[in-house]
Amino acid sequence: MRELPKDEKKQNIWSSSTTSERGENMYKFYGWETADITDARGLTPRDCYDIFSRAWCAETCAPRMRASWTPENKTLGQCSVTAFLVQDIYGGEVRGVPLENGTFHCFNVVGDCVFDLTSEQFGDEKLCYEGCPVQEREVHFLKEEKRLRYELLKERLGKEIIMEFTTDIFRQFDKKWALLTAGSMESFNTMTVSWGGLGTIWGKPVATVYVRTSRYTHEFMDGGEYFTVSFYPEEFRKTLGILGSKSGRDMDKMHESGLTPKAVGETVTFEEAEVTILCRKLFKQPLELANMSEELVSRWYGKDAPHDMYIGEVLEIN
Ligand SMILES: Cc1cc2nc3c(=O)[nH]c(=O)nc-3n(C[C@H](O)[C@H](O)[C@H](O)COP(=O)(O)O)c2cc1C
Repeated sequence: MRELPKDEKKQNIWSSSTTSERGENMYKFYGWETADITDARGLTPRDCYDIFSRAWCAETCAPRMRASWTPENKTLGQCSVTAFLVQDIYGGEVRGVPLENGTFHCFNVVGDCVFDLTSEQFGDEKLCYEGCPVQEREVHFLKEEKRLRYELLKERLGKEIIMEFTTDIFRQFDKKWALLTAGSMESFNTMTVSWGGLGTIWGKPVATVYVRTSRYTHEFMDGGEYFTVSFYPEEFRKTLGILGSKSGRDMDKMHESGLTPKAVGETVTFEEAEVTILCRKLFKQPLELANMSEELVSRWYGKDAPHDMYIGEVLEIN
C-alpha cells in the first residue's frame, strides 16, 4: 500500500457512516451496498466497519505509514490485518489489488460479495477489484511485525464485538436453549440451560446463568474460573434435549451427543455451536428460598434442589 499525497488525504475525512435523507446509514467503503452477508452473531460487513473503526489505531497501521495515520484517515495502513480478520469472521478469500510500489492492497471476497473495509484511504481513486490474486496469510505473516499487528487488532476488536452483539436473547434462552459448559478439555461437563441472560454490571458485559446445586455441571462451575454459554442451530434440538435430561454423572454424555468439544480460552465449547459466549466467573449467589414468593417456592422447589446464580464477565463472543 502506498503513502497518500497530502491533498489526497484531505478527501479521506469520512465519519464512520453518514445518514441519508431517508434516515438510512450510508457508508463509503467499497462494496458496502451489496455486502449483505451476516455471520452467526448477525454481524454484516457494515457492522464490521463500525467495529473496526473503533479498533483501528496508529499501532495497527503499517509502520511505514504510521506517522501519517490519523483518526480521520483511520483506514490508512490497515488493509491486510483487517482483511485477514474479516476472513476469520466470514471465511472466503483475501485478494490483493496490485499497487505501483509492488505491494498489494488487501480486500475480501466471500461468495459473490466483494468488499473492502479499508478502501477510503484511496479517496476518489477507483481501484480495480477484478482478477486480483489471492493473498495467503502464511505469506503475509512471515513478517512478524504484521502478525503482531493482526493479534493487536484482534484483541482490540474482541471488546468491540462484544458490545455490538445483539440478539433476541429472550427467545435464544427460552425457546432455542443453550449449553452451559464448564471445566477444561481434560475434564468438563455440559448441560442444557434455558434460564439466563446478558447484561451489564460493575461496568462489564456479563452473562448470568442459574444452575441447580444437584447438577453435575454445578461441580465444574464451582471448580473452575471460566464457563461458556453456546447456542446451536435448530437441528441440534434433540441433542440439547439429551444433554438436558441425562447427567454426566451417570453416562458419557459427550459420546451420546455426538458434539465435538473444542477449547476456547481455558474452557470448552463445541464445533457445532453457532455462537459461543466465553465468560470468567465473577460472582455466585444461592437463590435463597426465604427471599422468594411462596408461589415460586412451591412451583419450582417442591422436591428439587435450589439454584445458584452465576454471573460471568463476557470475555469473547465467537
Ligand atoms: C430445555 C432445558 C432447559 C434447562 N435449563 C436448566 C437451567 O437453566 N438450569 C438448570 O439447573 N437446569 C436446567 N435444565 C436441566 C439440566 O440440563 C439437566 O438436569 C441436565 O441433565 C443436567 O446435567 P448434568 O447433571 O450433567 O449437569 C434444563 C433442561 C432442559 C431440557
